[in-house]
Amino acid sequence: MTTSPVAEPAAKLDFVTRKPLPPEQLDTLSRDILALKKKLNAVILAHNYQLPEIQDVADFVGDSLGLSQQAAKTSADVIVFCGVHFMAETAKILNPDKIVILPDADAGCSLEASCPAPKLKALQETNPNFYTIAYINCSAEVKALCDVIVTSGNAVKIVNAAPKDRDILFVPDENLGSWVIEQTGRPMTLWKGNCYVHVEWTHASITRIRQQYPDAPLVAHPECTKAVRMLADEVCSTEKMVAYCKASPAKAIIIATESAMIHRLMKECPGKIFIPAPTDSCRCNECRFMKMNTLEKLHDCMLNLAPRIELPKHILERARQPIERMLEISARPVDNAG
Ligand code: 13P
Ligand code: SF4
Repeated sequence: MTTSPVAEPAAKLDFVTRKPLPPEQLDTLSRDILALKKKLNAVILAHNYQLPEIQDVADFVGDSLGLSQQAAKTSADVIVFCGVHFMAETAKILNPDKIVILPDADAGCSLEASCPAPKLKALQETNPNFYTIAYINCSAEVKALCDVIVTSGNAVKIVNAAPKDRDILFVPDENLGSWVIEQTGRPMTLWKGNCYVHVEWTHASITRIRQQYPDAPLVAHPECTKAVRMLADEVCSTEKMVAYCKASPAKAIIIATESAMIHRLMKECPGKIFIPAPTDSCRCNECRFMKMNTLEKLHDCMLNLAPRIELPKHILERARQPIERMLEISARPVDNAG
């Protein structure tokens, strides 16, 4: 028997780590943030996993690829990056002369933490023929050791464009890496890292929700395990999820990614119902790092122009090359991608 999906999504949008702001405070803070933005000639870039109230004051909300593209072309004097630390670092690498601030400097990422630069360097030294491809979820020091960067939105295209005579080392996400191997047929050595949020979904938890809502397609992020990806109708980056959901004739869609994505989807696809995929152990689906940013911290970082991203000159220069290579390959028409 099919259960009505209507009640589920609203309940799940109640973020476990958030203390809801009283409406007057929310209005005042949002107004002050917009005034500071004007005064500083700042641009606010926000990832799809940021709290709804942060998404709502941002100039651009998107995935890691869209955010890097926006950072590469901005004419603002100050970049306010609402995401995790490696994302703000990427914006700084692309804009070494601009001020780049973020609401909480401790907003890390389990993938970034899994791949320290000295360990990567030691592995690279075991094979001089390695061509190192890094998922953007890594530190600036790791980016500086790599040949090219990818995001979930362009990984297949970039791996297809990699030199055929090189052995690909793909870091740090083994799940994204194994999905890319499936898509491209290109063998790769995979670093053993994962996203602690996306590995929470299991074959059993997804099978249960699919049985509950048999007419709802499942969209999953490639950071999910293969056991989950194999049950999905679409595996894609968070930005491509928006395009898929807009185009899908389905009224209800199951989403296996971080919970704040649903705010963006509800705004872009009015009238559709989004069902957050459940895990076995919790009902949160939240990235605790993404949720370290709050509207208050966003306001304070703009007021104080801190925390600010600063990186050594040699890292800025070396890490810029693989990011620019990514942006260049990403912009190529599909047929010329390699
Ligand atoms: P996207 O680039 O698809 O938005 O993914 C970023 C991320 O951190 C996923 O966990
Ligand atoms: Fe990192 Fe996972 Fe959080 Fe994305 S959701 S920032 S991959 S820990």
